[in-house]
Amino acid sequence: MHDPIHELYESHAYPPMSHPLADPAVSAVAAQLGGLQTPHPARARILEIGCCSGHNLIPLALRWPESECIGIDLAETSIREAHRSAAAAGASNVQFHTADLRNFIADDGPFDFIIAHGFFSWVPDEVKAALLVFCRKNLSPAGIATVSFNLECGWAARLPVIQKVRAIQQARGGDIISALEILRFVTESDSPEIAIIDDMLAKGPAILAFDDFGPVNDPWPLDRFAQAALKAGLRWLGESDPAENIPSTLSDEMVETLAEIVKDPLAFQMAADAAAERTFRSGILCRDDAPLEDPIPLGMMLGFSVRMGKEPPESGALEIWRAIASFAPACVPLEEVLAILPEWDPRDMAGKVYEGITTGWILPRIEPYEYASQPGDFPKLNAFRLHCARKKLPLVDAWHKPCLFPERHFEILERMDGNRSCRELAAFSHSHCPELAFQPWLQHLAWRGMFA
Ligand SMILES: C[S@@+](CC[C@H](N)C(=O)[O-])C[C@H]1O[C@@H](n2cnc3c(N)ncnc32)[C@H](O)[C@@H]1O
Repeated sequence: MHDPIHELYESHAYPPMSHPLADPAVSAVAAQLGGLQTPHPARARILEIGCCSGHNLIPLALRWPESECIGIDLAETSIREAHRSAAAAGASNVQFHTADLRNFIADDGPFDFIIAHGFFSWVPDEVKAALLVFCRKNLSPAGIATVSFNLECGWAARLPVIQKVRAIQQARGGDIISALEILRFVTESDSPEIAIIDDMLAKGPAILAFDDFGPVNDPWPLDRFAQAALKAGLRWLGESDPAENIPSTLSDEMVETLAEIVKDPLAFQMAADAAAERTFRSGILCRDDAPLEDPIPLGMMLGFSVRMGKEPPESGALEIWRAIASFAPACVPLEEVLAILPEWDPRDMAGKVYEGITTGWILPRIEPYEYASQPGDFPKLNAFRLHCARKKLPLVDAWHKPCLFPERHFEILERMDGNRSCRELAAFSHSHCPELAFQPWLQHLAWRGMFA
C-alpha cells in the first residue's frame, strides 16, 4: 500500500539530531516535580519511537551503560544507519529495530521512559491513537512518555502560507524553495506572512520537506492532546523541561494577569500558549493509575542536581544563582550548593530553587554530572563523537545538545582522537581554517563537555 510517510523517510535522510527536551535526566525531574517517583534512568528501560538513525538514543545509551535502550523506526535505511553508528560508538546496550509502531510488540517487559520526539504531529490520526495506546500498555507503573507535538495556536498563521506554497507548486511545478520565493515576491512587504516565509526559507529544504511540508503536519491544541491521552488511560503531567510550562517570551506581568483571569491549570496553560503564539510542546504522560503524590517534599528537591541557567531577573535569587555558577560547568547535587550557603534556611532555599527550576535560571538534572572543562594535552572525543565528526553530523554535548559545525571544522574535530597534541591540532587548524580562533574554540568545546 502507498504510504507517503514511509516513502519520504526511506528516500530522504532526516537530519540527525539529539533532543535536550527528550533527555530523561531532565524529564525525570519534571515528573518528580509533578509528584511521580520515576525510576532512575541509569538503570531504566528506554524506548524511542521514530528514533531515525539513533542520534538521540545512542548518547543516552553511552551515558547510562546499565540502561537498556531500544529504538524503533519505520524506515529501514535509518535503522541500518543506527546500527552502524551504535557499532562505531561501541554502545552494546542499545538495539534498533525496523518496525511500524502499530505492529511493534515489546515482549521484554515495560519501559520506564518512552520517547516520541517529532512524531505525533507528523503521523496520521490512527498512528497518533496507536502511540497513546502503546504508551499506556507498555509504561512501567511509574514510567513516563515524552511526546512532543506542534501547537495549533502557533501554527495557525503558518498553515495558510503552506497552502499557498502548495497551490503555487501545483500550478507551476518546482520545488518548495522556488514556490516560497515566488510567494515572497507577490506578498505585500508589510504583510505578517513575510516573516513566516523568511523563517521557512531559513529552515531550508532539508527540514521543510519533513516539517512544514511533511505528508502530515497536524498541530493540535493542548486540551485536545491531554484529552486524547486521557482517553487512552494516560495523564498529562506538564512539560518535559520544567522551565517550559510557561513560555519564556511572556512577561511576568502577562503571566500574572493570565493567572488572575484563568484559574483552571489546563486553561491557563492554553491561554499562555495563545498569548505567546507558541508552536511546540514536549509533554510528559504517565499512566492514569500511576502513584502520584501531592506537593514535592523539600527532601526530594535536595536530591536534585543543578547547574547554572540564565541570570535570574530578581536580586533575591542572585546569591543562589552565583553559588550554583561557581560550580560551572558542572551540575552538582543541590546539597553541595546548600553547603556553601549556610546562612540560607533549607526551606527558603527550596522555594527559590523551585522558582529557579520552573523559570530557567536553574537547570536541573536527576543526577550530578562533572567533567574536566579543559581539553587536556591530547584532546580526545569519544567514539560516537569521532564517528559523527567523520560523517559531518552534529556532535552531542554533555547536556544532550546537538552542535553542528562548518564543514572544515569537522576536519579538525575528526583529528581529535587522543593521538594528536593541542599544538599539532592548532597547526592543522591554522593552515586549514585560518579564520578559526582555535584556542577559544577548543576551550569552548571542553566547556561543553565534548571531551568528557
Ligand atoms: C520527523 S521524524 C523525527 C525523527 C526524530 N525522532 C527527531 O525528532 O529528530 C519522524 C520519524 O518517525 C518515523 N515514523 C513515522 N511513522 C512511523 C510508524 N508508524 N512507526 C515507526 N516509526 C515511524 C519516521 O520514519 C521518522 O524517522
